[in-house]
Amino acid sequence: MEAQKEHSILVIEDNPSVNKLLEIFLFAEGYSVYKAYNGKEGLELFYKYLPDLVLSDIHMPNISGIELCAEIKSREEFRLIPVILLTAAKDIEKNISGIEAGADDFITKPVNRVLLSARIKRLLQTKMMNEKLDNSWSMLYSLAKIIEARDSYTEKHTIRVARLAQSLGAELGLPGEKLDILAQGGVLHDIGKVGIRDNILCKPGPLTKEEFDIMKTHTQIGYEICRGLKSLKDVADIIYSHHEKYDGSGYPQGLAKDEIPLLAHIISITDVYDALTSDRSYRKKLSFEEAARIIINEKGKSFEPDMVDIFINKVIE
Ligand SMILES: [Fe+2]
Repeated sequence: MEAQKEHSILVIEDNPSVNKLLEIFLFAEGYSVYKAYNGKEGLELFYKYLPDLVLSDIHMPNISGIELCAEIKSREEFRLIPVILLTAAKDIEKNISGIEAGADDFITKPVNRVLLSARIKRLLQTKMMNEKLDNSWSMLYSLAKIIEARDSYTEKHTIRVARLAQSLGAELGLPGEKLDILAQGGVLHDIGKVGIRDNILCKPGPLTKEEFDIMKTHTQIGYEICRGLKSLKDVADIIYSHHEKYDGSGYPQGLAKDEIPLLAHIISITDVYDALTSDRSYRKKLSFEEAARIIINEKGKSFEPDMVDIFINKVIE
């Protein structure tokens, strides 16, 4: 059958009559269908056509459905392609292995068509939504790279801040989802600099008061860029508050102590440390010892004292 419809589904099933039935049903539902009769052939067709969804039997000659699923999901570029495994009733052990392999759903054989149709629709909708989010993230990531390219002295700064912030977050015992937000916050924290003129952003030397007031607006600009994206709400808060200081002398709001969002404070300390240990247009990079001394000196001023201790003793030791 021709693969010309909006969504394509790869059916991998070694039983020819079940394979045929699935093909007829899915085609009638408006999908284009690729068919394979074993795991090896299934993987070949997967890489050839990159379908929108995979529907695979578990028990098959050579490569099993679970092995096939694990291979697909092990590749970052394919992780958003949903895999549904067809299982025998009460095959709980296989289901657990399937979950570990990254399967998105299970359908028990004999296949209930209404159920299969509903599950496929839901997974394809989720896939499209996730792809949109991925695109938004890619766009913002590119924007962050453009900003770095404008100022040769900040090359790779954001990636280093992201890594340091994740390490500090882990030492503070934060859960995985917060560490993910820190990684995004590290990359995007200065994205508002896209709205700062070159003669200020790239000025080789200290800024005047007026110029510094303009530079400060990068927190607000970055916040405005990201706050519209629901998935980046926490990241927007980091961007807005990453120049706040523990003693209340930072900007834009002059927040102090516990008023400063924890994740923003983590980005603040790692941002300053990486800036100190990198070359700038107006000075050479400082040694680890010199930078550590400056950070320690800011205990209770720019930074929360316990966080400074953990950062110095556990993260950059
Ligand atoms: Fe900044």
